[in-house]
Amino acid sequence: MKGSFPKEVYLNGEWLSSEAAKISVFDRGFMHGDGIYEVIPFYKGKSFLLSEHLKRLKYCLSEIYLDFDLSGIEGLVYEALQRAKLGKEDAAVYIQITRGVTPRTHFIPQNTEPTFLMYAFPAQLGGFENRSWKVLLYQDLRWQRCDIKTTSWLANTMANSKSHELGLNETILYRDGLVTEGSHSSIFFIKGNIVYTHPEGPAILSGITRKFVIGLCKEHGITLHEEPFPLEELGNVHEVFCTGTTTQIMQVTEMIYKGKTVFKSSDNGEVLKKLQSAFKEKTRSL
Ligand SMILES: Cc1ncc(COP(=O)(O)O)c(C=O)c1O
Repeated sequence: MKGSFPKEVYLNGEWLSSEAAKISVFDRGFMHGDGIYEVIPFYKGKSFLLSEHLKRLKYCLSEIYLDFDLSGIEGLVYEALQRAKLGKEDAAVYIQITRGVTPRTHFIPQNTEPTFLMYAFPAQLGGFENRSWKVLLYQDLRWQRCDIKTTSWLANTMANSKSHELGLNETILYRDGLVTEGSHSSIFFIKGNIVYTHPEGPAILSGITRKFVIGLCKEHGITLHEEPFPLEELGNVHEVFCTGTTTQIMQVTEMIYKGKTVFKSSDNGEVLKKLQSAFKEKTRSL
């Protein structure tokens, strides 16, 4: 299987080898998917948008009524990188917080001891502008609080598997005839000279990269509308790209909807090129 485990993880205040790190079968993260997570990128050891990622982590904790003290987390994040010998590499840090171990209840128990897990892993951040994705459009079957970065990822993985089975790279979700986002990325469409992306709210995760790219559009005088994009317009788009923390800004070269190719392109278009180059400049001069 693709991927590998980190050598060491930080679990509830201790650095442990992955083999030694254990959680209870009664952890609510395991029982109910009752937890949230965050992924923070590092370019050659320098964090990018760290405070925005921590702000979202705080927001998610508060939205699931989980009281957890995040003080000291910045130091820990850097410690994770150092211990994994990734202090000068392109890498990312994964953080997961669950409600912890309690007897199984349907309601949210009070005053639990949350489970905190963190580890660093190498990330391939270079050369994103030379890669591309082919994507499948698929029905958004997720819940109505997609703004919470929850570890309850079943609907996302089920959707993602639909494109994976076809040898494609990402599944783009739609609800009520409107595109929301990718199974693990945000999506932008360019029609004419206007960039479109779904507005923030419960239908999408407020992507940190999405927000940064919206800022880049403003900085470069590119008109952007935060509006849901209709499925029926897919055939009329000129450029498409997805964004995400390790995805960065990924060109989409093909979109497949109901077995038919509705969009195909080979070159990175003008707007995409401009945004990718601005993004690269910002992340490589930290
Ligand atoms: C559903 C979903 N949307 C969007 C994103 C992109 O968010 P970010 O740019 O913060 O990584 C992710 C990333 O995991 C995601 O899972």
